[in-house]
Amino acid sequence: MTSAAAARTGVAVELTDLRRSYGGVAALDGLTLHIEPGEFIALLGPSGCGKTTALRCLAGLEDPDSGTIEVGGRDVTAIPTNRRDMGMVFQAYSLFPHMTARQNVEFGLELRKQDKAARRERAAAMLDLVGLSAHADKFAHQMSGGQQQRVALARALAIEPQVLLLDEPLSALDAKVRTQLRDEIRRIQLDVGTTTLFVTHDQEEALAVADRVGVMRAGNLEQIAAPEELYTKPANAFVADFVGLTNRLTGTANGAHASVLGAPVALLPGSATSGSVEVLVRPEAIDIAPDPAGNATVVSASFLGAHAKVIATTDDGQRVAVQVDSDAVTSYRPGDRVRVRPQGDPALAVAKS
Ligand SMILES: Nc1ncnc2c1ncn2[C@@H]1O[C@H](COP(=O)(O)OP(=O)(O)O)[C@@H](O)[C@H]1O
Ligand SMILES: [Mg+2]
Repeated sequence: MTSAAAARTGVAVELTDLRRSYGGVAALDGLTLHIEPGEFIALLGPSGCGKTTALRCLAGLEDPDSGTIEVGGRDVTAIPTNRRDMGMVFQAYSLFPHMTARQNVEFGLELRKQDKAARRERAAAMLDLVGLSAHADKFAHQMSGGQQQRVALARALAIEPQVLLLDEPLSALDAKVRTQLRDEIRRIQLDVGTTTLFVTHDQEEALAVADRVGVMRAGNLEQIAAPEELYTKPANAFVADFVGLTNRLTGTANGAHASVLGAPVALLPGSATSGSVEVLVRPEAIDIAPDPAGNATVVSASFLGAHAKVIATTDDGQRVAVQVDSDAVTSYRPGDRVRVRPQGDPALAVAKS
């Protein structure tokens, strides 16, 4: 199935003004989120911002205090979880330990009273989809964490869910497997066309897989946008901080600009407008050049494949990470004097007092 055809098979999801409190804490504080049929949305935000609560409300595992949930145009707010047709994958260790991979994948189909031959066929197709045909008869303890999560994904998709819900499914895996499986999840999702909500606190993960990324804070969305837009046009300081403005430099704010390392930097809306401020600047928005009369000293230069990263310490003791072209990396050795300063894109800085 092509992704264009598959996309039409997904359903729309509409969360409207969802509220859910625990004691005095508003886990969801009026969350409104529209997901297009077949769309892959990542909810990104710090621990405790309400990501899991949002997902559990959509799954019917949690009742919102108020607000509505529509799936495929149907109001499911009062429908129990077992009639919502959601496929779910959690952080880890969710496979039934006494069942093989195949039995785990067949489980939901058995609940749905599918006959044995149909179950077998469907489970085989799903294990094939996640690349685990050869491991169908293994138990959880005989598989790696990444393989177990693939089985969990196959199990979630076997029931042909209306919506696929993934709650930090990669966070227990090591970095290499995490990247591989993340890309696999996206490939498979495009293949099956299922509307997907993926929850993570990892900005790189969210930006890499999703059609749109929603940045959450304290039970609500700060911004929802395509990854590129979020990265280049963060709506405010919180979003900018969360999507990887890694340098934190001292500056002096004056209206919509701040002076940082002697250069003017235009500030994002929501920034402080006067006094001494912390300015977040991306590594690719810092200019660096060898200069014996410069303002910083190189600490390290590392080749990272497509680009390279130089770390320098300024004469006033600030650490600055700079992204450079990979062929420029040999121009910088530890101890070299350089000049560093913010340059270019006015949309890339935010100041916090
Ligand atoms: N069952 C619960 N009982 C009490 N507080 C809860 C419960 N579930 C979530 N919370 C609180 O609601 C807030 C949001 O939690 P959660 O949705 O799990 O956030 P996230 O998944 O973004 O880390 C947190 O302050 C959390 O402590
Ligand atoms: Mg959570």
